[in-house]
Amino acid sequence: MTYLQTARQSVEANKGREDIRLLAIETSCDETSAAVTIGRTQRSLVIASQVETHALYGGVVPEIASRAHVEALPGVVRRALEEAETAPEDLDGVAVTYGPGLVGALLCGVSYAKGFAYRHGLPLVPVHHIEGHISAAYLAHPDLAPPFLALVVSGGHSHLVRVADYGHHEILGRTRDDAAGEAFDKAARVLGLPYPGGPAIDRLAREGDDRALPLPRSRQEGYNYSFSGLKTALLQAVARMEKQGARPSDADIAASFRRAVVEQLVDKAECALRDTGLKKLVLAGGVACNSLLRARANEACQRLGARVFLPPPILCTDNAAMIGCAGYYRYREGRIADLDLNAVPSMPLPN
Ligand code: KG4
Ligand code: ZN
Repeated sequence: MTYLQTARQSVEANKGREDIRLLAIETSCDETSAAVTIGRTQRSLVIASQVETHALYGGVVPEIASRAHVEALPGVVRRALEEAETAPEDLDGVAVTYGPGLVGALLCGVSYAKGFAYRHGLPLVPVHHIEGHISAAYLAHPDLAPPFLALVVSGGHSHLVRVADYGHHEILGRTRDDAAGEAFDKAARVLGLPYPGGPAIDRLAREGDDRALPLPRSRQEGYNYSFSGLKTALLQAVARMEKQGARPSDADIAASFRRAVVEQLVDKAECALRDTGLKKLVLAGGVACNSLLRARANEACQRLGARVFLPPPILCTDNAAMIGCAGYYRYREGRIADLDLNAVPSMPLPN
């Protein structure tokens, strides 16, 4: 029997089981992460962050990221298994992020997962990174079930997604240019703040006046976003005010910028909730850590009689537990891969 035939047999034999135990691996960007999940619960989660290395360069350097993943993976996986008191024989499969992301970084995780799956005769479950981000909410909220609206905001993506069922999505809107996290990172660079800029802006903004700097609203149609013009608008507004001898403080700039991004995100999400009649909003991705975004999303849901789901920050940024959770639902549908699975740097969200 071939590897895939054996894997399909195992999945078939496990049909209907809710305690599927997966080793999950995530290496799409600059975090090397492994986790063990059982069904939609997390048993262990290990994250080796490379952020300090990349901070020296003001952003992620792909080649450095790949090398760091290769070095970190064996130890990170070993610790995830140990902390979950799980031996390879106890596992039902291996879930891995295969895209979108940095191709070299993804390949590290995909190759490791394939080797592990083959060595231990386990089914290989390919997971879309954004599906993983959305699934973080299942880990944090055991009672959450589709359908719901997900606002997925990370360093590479800004999407409004209608989640019709587990693993089934319809994109209602997306950014036309920069992602929200990218916008925060660029604005932070302007202010001389360290990478990643989102958390730094969020902290600084707490002491600032968010009306100090007038910034324009995006005029994107439908539920689409645009953030690329905001950095230029910020530079121009600062220059204009300096000329008038009234340069705003860095905290005022951070607060005004944060408000402009968050209002755009929440306004469209609120419209989408109203138009679709969905009563649940899930925040996902690294930018979902933003304290103003969390507060404003909560207020919008209160206005609409909807419920907001805010996973803890550790599950919003890149982590393998979310990949294990998404992998569980894929496993249940028999959506597994053969050993020719490849990394795919850009691909649409499965529908
Ligand atoms: O989801 P994630 O960890 O990686 C990607 O898939 O991109 O998101 C990272 C992004 C970075 O751009 C970072 O600046 C942003 O999330 N971020 C934040 C905050 N925490 C992280 N942005 C705004 N406010 C935050 N508190
Ligand atoms: Zn991510």
